[in-house]
Amino acid sequence: MSDGSTQDEGPNAQQAKYWNDVAGPKWVALAEAINGQIQPIGHAAMERARIERGQRVLDVGCGCGQTSLELAQRVGEQGHVDGLDLSEPMLAEARVRGAELKNLQFTAADVQVHGLQEAAYDRIFSRFGVMFFDDPEAAFANLRGALAPGGQLTFVCWQEIGSNPWMAVPGAAVASLVEMPPPTDPHSPGPFAFADAERTRGILNGAGFEQVEFESLEVPLTIGRGMTDAQLVEFSLQMGPAGAAMREADEALRIRLRAAVAEAIEPHKGAEGLVMDSAAWIFSAA
Ligand SMILES: C[S@@+](CC[C@H](N)C(=O)[O-])C[C@H]1O[C@@H](n2cnc3c(N)ncnc32)[C@H](O)[C@@H]1O
Repeated sequence: MSDGSTQDEGPNAQQAKYWNDVAGPKWVALAEAINGQIQPIGHAAMERARIERGQRVLDVGCGCGQTSLELAQRVGEQGHVDGLDLSEPMLAEARVRGAELKNLQFTAADVQVHGLQEAAYDRIFSRFGVMFFDDPEAAFANLRGALAPGGQLTFVCWQEIGSNPWMAVPGAAVASLVEMPPPTDPHSPGPFAFADAERTRGILNGAGFEQVEFESLEVPLTIGRGMTDAQLVEFSLQMGPAGAAMREADEALRIRLRAAVAEAIEPHKGAEGLVMDSAAWIFSAA
């Protein structure tokens, strides 16, 4: 079996390139802001995961490690947390953050093909780290083999983009000025790949999980807490389709894109940043 090397080859090479070269450095630079935005969703999933002291937990697509650190605190010294990710810059950040914790380890791996020890984990957790697999059924089958008897997989993934204005609003503003790429297969790897919950349930069933439950979590997110107006615009232009358009644009177009996004986000300004609705699924599977 492959050791799950993360870079130039393997089934998820395209995602590895994206998370190493494009998104990873951005997520590191914006780690606090992004974490502040999605932390309430991660906490809701952790509650659903029934994390207890002494458990062995795998954090899938752990990114900059904020959830891994929280999980390590929850399982305590008798427990252990492994964070796996294929983004070297994000793992470097995670290792700095987790340096003090002896019950926490970060490893570079493509979770879809990484040789995981059989029945090694009581809980497998992920905050938005499971929607990027080239072959999700194979990836979840791999994870299922690593789950101990009586164990549980819990993850959060986004519902459709239309229910997530934090992504849709800047995206629509940008689309009013530039021609966006034609829509791809909505199930192809990406943040909204698991928006169709029944389809996702089918993938989990196909991977061998017999008991699959999901629930809708709809919470307003605070985006860019403490940022200035200009920083809020830049932050809104980093993600998803807006980020892709900004990368392609020349300076004149960037100025127009900034103006369009500034106007679009204005109605969402709250006391501490932007306040925008979100909708995610919390999946539990055993
Ligand atoms: C949206 S980010 C979420 C990061 C982190 N869980 C958080 O909540 O801050 C998705 C993460 O999944 C990782 N990822 C994507 N595909 C992966 C794979 N096949 N194996 C391991 N990690 C993967 C990315 O590198 C990225 O860190």
